[in-house]
Amino acid sequence: MEDIVISLKNVNRVYGRGPSAVKALDIRSLDINRGELVAVTGPSGCGKTTLLNLLGALDRPSHGSIVMAGKDITALGETALCRYRREQVGIIFQAYCLLPTLSALQNVLAPALPFNNGRHTRERARELLRRVGLKGAEKRLPGELSGGEQQRVAIARALLLDPELLLADEPTGNLDSANGAGIIELLKDLHEMGKTVLVASHDQRVADACHRILRLADGALA
Ligand SMILES: Nc1ncnc2c1ncn2[C@@H]1O[C@H](COP(=O)(O)OP(=O)(O)OP(=O)(O)O)[C@@H](O)[C@H]1O
Ligand SMILES: [Mg+2]
Repeated sequence: MEDIVISLKNVNRVYGRGPSAVKALDIRSLDINRGELVAVTGPSGCGKTTLLNLLGALDRPSHGSIVMAGKDITALGETALCRYRREQVGIIFQAYCLLPTLSALQNVLAPALPFNNGRHTRERARELLRRVGLKGAEKRLPGELSGGEQQRVAIARALLLDPELLLADEPTGNLDSANGAGIIELLKDLHEMGKTVLVASHDQRVADACHRILRLADGALA
């Protein structure tokens, strides 16, 4: 039991109400083990982002429970949820979502603001930029970086507070194949460091790199 890090039971997410309601996700049961590297695949609109948003507590299910490391996150209030998002999960968005007026280093530090921006945290942010191959780019703005470089800044940012769970939504979607391959290598490294990693992707190379593939079709696990 201890190595199940995420457990979903009868989870669904319905967007909207009445005749325009869309059931975007409907999962009867899903367990993810600690340290797994999992691909979430399926056609556009099948519910991949909806699932990642629920796991990252960016959204709540319409019904059901999501237990993360022994805690039902659907039962948490806003303050506890904020803590969960900050401390337990790192999210890598498809569109990078870097803050355009902040440097690469400041973007990596953003999850620590406004609480902790001490020397130790800054040193860690620099080390993470080195690890993703961006040494020397600390002061560059997102607009001065390529797509692959921005995605690597976003990965470093997701790692700043050393979360147990990493969620990546189409992390190679906007990249050419060389940059995409670099990102896949980074995700594999994170898995080897013991992180639990879920990657939503259409990219066959991502699926090939993962140990388990969840296929979604119309919101359900196939
Ligand atoms: N905020 C929303 N309001 C209403 N419907 C939504 C909303 N977000 C998503 N949907 C619908 O829910 C379904 C699942 O969407 P989701 O974004 O999870 O798909 P996806 O698998 O991530 O697709 P893609 O591969 O294109 O990113 C789709 O039918 C989508 O139109
Ligand atoms: Mg999506």
